[in-house]
Parts: sequence; C-alpha cells; structure tokens
Amino acid sequence: MSSTIQSKKRNNKNDNLHKAKSAKNDEFYTTRGTIENELKWYKHHFKGKVVYCNCDDPYESEFFKYFMLQFKMLGLKKLIATCYKNSPVANKQFQFFSNEELLTNRGNKAHKIEITSEDLKGENPSMENMKDILKRKKLVKNLPAKCDGSFDSKPCLKLLEEADIVVTNPPFSQFRQFVHVLEKYHKDFLIIGNMNAITYKEIFPLIKDNKLWLGYTHPKEFIEPNGTIKKFGNIMWFTNLDIPKRHEDLIIWKKYSPEEYPHYDNYDAINVDKVAEIPCDYCESWGLYPEEFEALDKTQWEEVRRERKEDTELIYVIPKEGTELRKLLHEHTDGYKEEIEHVLAKSIYCSGVMGVPITILDKYNPDQIEIVKFRKGNDEKDLTYTEGASPLEASKQASKQASKQASKQASGRLHLTSEFWSARYCNGIIGVPITFLDKWNPEQFRIINGIGRYACIENDSTNKIGTYGTNINGHRKYFRIHIQKIL
Ligand SMILES: C[S@@+](CC[C@H](N)C(=O)[O-])C[C@H]1O[C@@H](n2cnc3c(N)ncnc32)[C@H](O)[C@@H]1O
Repeated sequence: MSSTIQSKKRNNKNDNLHKAKSAKNDEFYTTRGTIENELKWYKHHFKGKVVYCNCDDPYESEFFKYFMLQFKMLGLKKLIATCYKNSPVANKQFQFFSNEELLTNRGNKAHKIEITSEDLKGENPSMENMKDILKRKKLVKNLPAKCDGSFDSKPCLKLLEEADIVVTNPPFSQFRQFVHVLEKYHKDFLIIGNMNAITYKEIFPLIKDNKLWLGYTHPKEFIEPNGTIKKFGNIMWFTNLDIPKRHEDLIIWKKYSPEEYPHYDNYDAINVDKVAEIPCDYCESWGLYPEEFEALDKTQWEEVRRERKEDTELIYVIPKEGTELRKLLHEHTDGYKEEIEHVLAKSIYCSGVMGVPITILDKYNPDQIEIVKFRKGNDEKDLTYTEGASPLEASKQASKQASKQASKQASGRLHLTSEFWSARYCNGIIGVPITFLDKWNPEQFRIINGIGRYACIENDSTNKIGTYGTNINGHRKYFRIHIQKIL
C-alpha cells in the first residue's frame, strides 16, 4: 500500500473519529427553564410570525412544546418543527408511528409538524392534551422519503423560506453552516451556541457588522439523551432580533493613563483586561500643545483628555458636539479624518502659532511660513515653531486642488500631511476581552477588529489560525475585540 493511500486512510479514520465526537457533542437538549428565561425578552417579536424550529424533535423538544403552549399568547401565525432522522430522542416521548413501523425502521423517518392558528381554533393546548391535539388533527407528517430532515435539505429549506423566525439549539458541530443558511435566507433567528463560535472567522464578521449579537442569558444545564444533566459554562444565545439590552450604555468611569493601559507591541491599540475598566476618556482625537490649544476656538472644539509625556502636555481634542465636523466624525464619513485635520490645522495655523515636527524643514517655503523658535519636544527631537500669514486656501476645494498640485510638483508648499498628524492622532482603539460583547451597545462603541485564536484580522497577512494575536511585552493576550468609542 502506498504511503499516500495509507495516509488518506488514516485521515479518513481521523475524520470519522472527529465526526463521531462532534455528533456526540451535538446531542444535548435544552430545558424548559433555559427557553423561558431567554424568550421572555422577545415576546413582541413573535406576533403574526411563522416560527420554525429546524433542529428539533417535534414533541421531544422543549422548543416545540414552548411554542405550542404559548401559540395563542404570542399570537403566532404558524409553528413548524422538523426532526432529523438520526436524532436519538425522536419517538421516545411520543410515538407518532405504530410499533410495527418502528420495528421495521419505517417509523424512524424524518418528520415535521406544522400548526396554524386555524388548527388551534377552539383548542386550549396544555401538556396533558398536546399529544391528543397533534394526533386528532393529524399534524405530524413524514418528510419526503429521501429527506433526512437536515436543516439544509431541500424540503427543510422550503419550510425555512416560509418562516420568519428560526428558534432552536442547532448541532454545535454545524453551527457555522447553520448560521450561513440563516444568513443566506435572510431569516431572523434566536439560537443557542458555544462561546467559541464568536471567534470563528465566519461568525465574527457578522458580529462586527451588526448582523448577529448575544442574547440575555447563559444557559448552564442541558439534558443528554440518557436523561443525565450536563453542565456547561460557555453556552450563549445568538440572535439578530432587537432587544433592549443592545441600547443600554455601558457605564464607564475610569480615566485613561498610559501606565494603567499599556499599548500593544504589535497593534495600534491599548489593552483593557476588564470590561468595567474601559477608560471613558480614551477616544479618537487629535493632540495639541498647550499654545496651540489656547489658540483654538472653543466653540468649535472640545477637550477630551490630557496626556503628560515627560515635560510636555498634549491636549486631545475633537470637534464640538453639534458641529458639522463632529457629524463627520460620528458617522466616519469617507475622508472625515483628512477633513478634520485640515480644519484643525487651519484653525491653529490661522491664529499664528503651531508646533510642527522638524521634518517640516524638508518642505519649508519661506514665503509661506516663518520660523519663530525651536524648542525641545517630548520625543527629544527639536520642534519648529512657525508663524506667518496663512496661505492655506480659503475654500476646501481650492485646498484639495492645491494639495494635489503640490504633491505632483513636489514644490515646497506646506501641507500638513498624514505624517505630521500621525504623531498627534490617537485612533482611540481599545482591545477588550470577549465578554465585552455581552454588554455591547453598538450606538456607544463600534467594533474595529478581532484578534485571537481563530482571528479574523483584516490586515493579517499571515492568515494563520492560532499564530496571530496581540502582545504586551512579548506576552500574548487571548482573543481581544478591538473597539472604538462612537463620538
Ligand atoms: C443540540 S441538539 C438540540 C435539540 C433540540 N433543539 C433541543 O434544544 O432540545 C441538536 C439536534 O440537532 C439534530 N441534528 C444534527 N444534525 C442535524 C442536521 N444536519 N439538521 C437538523 N438537525 C440536526 C441532532 O440530532 C439534535 O437533535
């Protein structure tokens, strides 16, 4: 036997082992308490809707029971549940099929239940009469012979099309595919999953883009097919249904200091180890020297924090609330940064005094600026103080044209480039633990990135799982979500 075939066989064996292990991990069943504790927050979402439980064992599943019992109270239009053929608990509590059918294995077919408001007219479903209603009204039906009831099988996708909201606890090993299907069919959903899913490169971007978020509770106990209780510490609800929690601001009060909030070695952000300690004054902002700050029109700009670096103080500012610039900053409109920097430079420069890096000498045009003094900066480089009549064009358009021309001709005209601003710009990005997502209000913070074990890093050229992360003094910080305050 060739070594390739041998290794293929070995791989197949490993795959099967892996599948068997995953399948085993898929078989845990949700308790009524877990469902009630979470669903009480979503009641208004269900009115007039078609709910589909597509990884359930109709009747054995507490999801199905919950919705059948609450059908009228929630004002559902329809309830659908489908059962996977291979489910080990199907037909245990409620035998839809005859003994003969079960013995010949004909009963172990994938089946579905569909209940409409019409079916429940004059009925008052309870735990006691549920079976009777299902039987009497013939609501349990086999799925087509070739269908195994998988959520991605044709008949189940057809039912999915009809549904408004999917509510279930899908097999954990197929979580990625399951969410992908829901996304593809543009469905609302409320589903149970493992916390690790957050770090999947298929899932994290959905969180980042506000297409999926965490529910309220953290289910702790599930029931295994043999009836024993299994405890978990990392299970959560994932949803795209709006909930009040998402609109509540996280209360933060700590002030930033470079000592308490170290900067990563390999990523331009500060690290925070506890969500409650996210500094309230660390945000996207621009640093000015005190002389420059004095010259600034305070009706247009506001101070957010001060940072002392050796013997110099930088005062970080942002456009004042209510200004056009603040709107650009708030919305991160294309080119917002350049626009803010342009106006900020103009405000200080027109007033006559501005601190600029010594590299300005490369572009120095004596018709444009006059050097008034040199002074030692905090980075031990000389800073050049300049003064003069502002040649900065009156209108933004003119300025942009001139800027283009200047760079084209490499003339000596002064344009305060990104290079200049990079020393003064603070991107306000903060690396926080994954638990932040439980408290995330997307109107308060935007997610910039996520870096960690299964990183989904936009600029990660290595693209290798497990090799990339943010370090502090050479020590890796486990999965961090990089956030920025919305101003
Ligand atoms: C974690 S259990 C949860 C069962 C039930 N939803 C509950 O919460 O009690 C996942 C269920 O999905 C079923 N399942 C596995 N693969 C499936 C698939 N491809 N399509 C639909 N269901 C599947 C399993 O048999 C199992 O019953």
